[in-house]
Amino acid sequence: MKLEQILFSQGFGTRRACRALILAGEVTVAGALCDDPDMPFAVDGPACPKPLAFTVEGVAWQYHARAYLMLHKPAGYECSQKPRHHPSVLSLLPAPLRERGVQPVGRLDEDTTGLLLLSDDGQFIHRMTSPRHEVPKRYEVVTAEPVTAGQTAALLAGVVLEDDPAPVRALACEPGGSHALALTLTSGKYHQVKRMLAAVGNHVVRLHRSRMGALALPATLAEGQWRWLEPDDLAQLVVVGPASALRDQ
Ligand code: URA
Repeated sequence: MKLEQILFSQGFGTRRACRALILAGEVTVAGALCDDPDMPFAVDGPACPKPLAFTVEGVAWQYHARAYLMLHKPAGYECSQKPRHHPSVLSLLPAPLRERGVQPVGRLDEDTTGLLLLSDDGQFIHRMTSPRHEVPKRYEVVTAEPVTAGQTAALLAGVVLEDDPAPVRALACEPGGSHALALTLTSGKYHQVKRMLAAVGNHVVRLHRSRMGALALPATLAEGQWRWLEPDDLAQLVVVGPASALRDQ
């Protein structure tokens, strides 16, 4: 792929702007300055086993045909492209990622922290958010009232939320102290954890998503930081068999 096309595909502006950056000597590829916009580089296949490394105006980048990212979402950010009361999580990403159309995979509430995936691959977003695929999500919940055995039993058995007569149940519910529990859900309804806890007579005071599928938020990723998902990370998101099979074990 020509260098101009590489930059264009990675969100560095119009073809003309990408060309201008290259001609101005602002781009290096694999450690060497390249000021020829038409210079071809292998971006995948056997000639390029690792993502192509390049820099633009001194900032290091990797070529990715599609962007798959994880972000440690802090509180105080909305998972929306048009936020209403708080900044968008997209403001935590560098401009080229926003420019290439990266979007949150599902939503976390403004006050929820933890693992948020983002991508510019519409099929991936659909697959990860579709109720048919039931990717389990684990939430660490701090509650206002003590968590009782009756509450955890009800969360596992299923509770009815006001917008749907079909009960929703947790795949797993592990008490974590008097006012804490870890809840694993396979559906992603609006405010689902908060509404489920309210339905059993409790109240969420803190909510943190720690895991999606087998992919855990790494302890090394500080709040507000993002990183690319590696092929191993993506493999961890694949649910082998329907989650309902796990639930029935
Ligand atoms: N459930 C909620 O209530 N809020 C979230 O942010 C995620 C799940």
